[in-house]
Amino acid sequence: MTKPTIKMLAWGWLLGIASAALVGIVILVLVLTGVAFNTSATSADSQIFAAAIHATMTNSVKRRASGGAPRLPLDTATLLAGAREYETHCIACHGGPGVARAPWASAMLPTPPYLLDTPNRWSHAELYTIVHDGVKMTAMPAWGEVESDRQIAAIVAFLEVLPKMTTAQFDRVRQRARPPLLAR
Ligand code: HEC
Repeated sequence: MTKPTIKMLAWGWLLGIASAALVGIVILVLVLTGVAFNTSATSADSQIFAAAIHATMTNSVKRRASGGAPRLPLDTATLLAGAREYETHCIACHGGPGVARAPWASAMLPTPPYLLDTPNRWSHAELYTIVHDGVKMTAMPAWGEVESDRQIAAIVAFLEVLPKMTTAQFDRVRQRARPPLLAR
């Protein structure tokens, strides 16, 4: 067998790079023309794709969460303020103890998760970051665009006690937090 010359090796490399680029371009064209990717919210993501974007979101939040998220005293006023925010802005998508999310929220992809174990998985600063900054390419809004830092801190305080609430306690707190339907 003849020993490969530098020139033959260089051509081999070049050919390898050119075919990899061609495969990349073909995949890009198939995705951009909608052949290889269905954006319909009824077509579930593959497990690998879903796991990859979830890992990206988790790592992005952990990297960006600052240690300095505001914290309010954990008293009745804070919890009622958080409950009121939750009632008006979150419950339709995320439900609560004994309360299902709205049927239209279940039709979203990704489906908004129930938030009954979030303090076990996210630190205070990470929860604050998720609620304040939202999650791109999902339906999770950046509440920091419309709510004050204190309101977001109250929401996070509420999220942190939510898993400890019974269905009856959650129901009671909702009654107290609900704004009256008609002004007196
Ligand atoms: C229109 C629907 C919608 C509304 C309203 C909404 N969210 Fe979300 N939220 C989502 C979706 C969808 C996700 C999942 C994002 C993902 O998969 O990365 C999410 C994720 C989250 C997470 C991370 C959950 C986890 O298990 O990791 C938290 C915490 C959260 N939302 C809190 C809130 C709070 C608090 C409010 C109200 C102030 C709120 N959300 C309002 C759709 C919504």
